[in-house]
Amino acid sequence: DFSKPVLGIETSCDETGVALLRWQPDAPGRGLLAHVLYSQIKLHADYGGVVPELASRDHVRKLLPLVREALAQAGLAPADLGGVAYTAGPGLVGALLVGAAAGRALAWALGVPAIGVHHMEGHLLAPLLEDDPPAPPFVALLVSGGHSMLVEVKGIGRYRILGDTLDDAAGEAFDKTAKLMGLPYPGGPALAKLAEQGRPGAFHFSRPMTDRPGLDFSFSGLKTQVLLAWQQSDQSGQTRADVARAFEEAIVDTLVIKCRRALEATGARRLVIAGGVGANRRLRAELAAAGGREGFRTYFPRLAFCTDNGAMIALAGAIRLAHGQHQDERIQVFPRWDL
Ligand code: KG4
Ligand code: ZN
Repeated sequence: DFSKPVLGIETSCDETGVALLRWQPDAPGRGLLAHVLYSQIKLHADYGGVVPELASRDHVRKLLPLVREALAQAGLAPADLGGVAYTAGPGLVGALLVGAAAGRALAWALGVPAIGVHHMEGHLLAPLLEDDPPAPPFVALLVSGGHSMLVEVKGIGRYRILGDTLDDAAGEAFDKTAKLMGLPYPGGPALAKLAEQGRPGAFHFSRPMTDRPGLDFSFSGLKTQVLLAWQQSDQSGQTRADVARAFEEAIVDTLVIKCRRALEATGARRLVIAGGVGANRRLRAELAAAGGREGFRTYFPRLAFCTDNGAMIALAGAIRLAHGQHQDERIQVFPRWDL
């Protein structure tokens, strides 16, 4: 019964996210009832990156208390649920298995259907959780720690990949660059913050792959450019901020150029930005400005729904369940999984 709330579970990496959503296309927030998140950032900080085994163990500890908390927030009991959606991939296999096993077990005990959701479809649909959501067709820029993609969205479930990264993802480039300049994990947001103090024009890095046609990305060369510039500099605090600024400008410029190209190629007038790097202030400002100049509209999820969260999984799952899709009782996850 899909007038009933769906439980959404996200455990693909280092955030445990849980949400409840009663899918109603015309309701505020598409019927989002509650969402809670536990971030493992502190747990992994000492290691300079996500430790998969520790991530799995922490999901095991946190998941059911978060489900209880979300139900309490929404004033619901487990018996009120109409279905369960969990991230089935891509992501860390052990971390995914925690959400899949718990989600499947809950659904089995309650006698309701369950569905494994593609993490990137969750990111892609996250802007639908906002007021005045974008209607397909639109182009989506998906930029996270694991992906940099341009996708043409013709409808829900009808996706065409326009461009992908040949090496590092945008978020990965942020994180690795931050690390090589000695910033603590997770480097992306820290580097972006530092860039605000950087002086314009102090450094300049190239805009990879913008000098030839196509919509693919490559960011690993940029990281090498930064490494060389940093090693040859005085490595002062101001220099670090200057390098951060030039790096951020190079990435953002590159993303903006490719988004404009994708809109041109598809004829779409709506651009959705999603994934963790979508939280980047410069990226949001530059894309909104380009849209103002060139007549396309930009749609961003709120910051909490740019990075990993349970709400986007509840949404993507609820829509699929409402269309009659679900899977059998096998607990299956897909660490690598094409959209
Ligand atoms: O979507 P997400 O939470 O997880 C993945 O599915 O990967 O994205 C995390 C990524 C990290 O690489 C992080 O450094 C980056 O998003 N990120 C940012 C900012 N906030 C998060 N990168 C640049 N600027 C930000 N403000
Ligand atoms: Zn993500």
